[in-house]
Amino acid sequence: FTGINGIPDEAINNKTVIVIDVLRATTTITVALAAGCLEVIPVLTPEEAIEMRARLGDERVLLGGERNALKIPGFDLGNSPREYTPEIVAGKRLIITTTNGTRAIRRAAGGHQVFLGAMVNAPSVATAAAWGEEDITIICSGTKDRFSLEDFLAAGFIVDRLTALNGFTLRDGARAARDYYLYRRDDPAAALKESYHGRLLEELGLGEDVDFCSRVGTFDVVPVYGGGIIKKIG
Ligand code: MLT
Repeated sequence: FTGINGIPDEAINNKTVIVIDVLRATTTITVALAAGCLEVIPVLTPEEAIEMRARLGDERVLLGGERNALKIPGFDLGNSPREYTPEIVAGKRLIITTTNGTRAIRRAAGGHQVFLGAMVNAPSVATAAAWGEEDITIICSGTKDRFSLEDFLAAGFIVDRLTALNGFTLRDGARAARDYYLYRRDDPAAALKESYHGRLLEELGLGEDVDFCSRVGTFDVVPVYGGGIIKKIG
């Protein structure tokens, strides 16, 4: 599915769900967990993030995220994966709110198991999802309910890997995503740079994020969302 409006409940409930927001929420969450962040709590608004930090009363809590791709005033971190270094996030809990990604993650709450995927961890996510008995639904977060090429590309990689590992029957969206991935796989960075959101980030001086987010398999961390919290598998 591309964009979170219009996803029927039956595509989520009791399914294995993979939520993708390559630019940049699911990349950033993957990197934060790889850097030793203890857990990530996705929330819908900056106000909810600030209230939750006050309620948790835990000095290890950091606030991260973006609006219009930029850091939210008063927050500790923006939504650039490059900010989430071990020095800053190891041993911390992160509350994050982003325009599209955290909404898509929350939408997936009814899934039996919910994985977060990006280009940087796509091989590990495909391996984690491949061996269950359940149907798999992939949610491409999109940009403000519109289709996003970068999420479609990562979905295509995961579909290609899933079919190689465990011969799934594909619906048309999955088949189209795989075809697009096979067409662009020689240069995913170029595909991301051409995308609407990639161009926007470039204009904001965040082109290095686009390169970072396009690298396939640089992390083996698989974030799992359940009970309102994202942790890494294992
Ligand atoms: C989002 O969730 O909308 C994105 O991650 C936006 C961004 O690039 O920061």
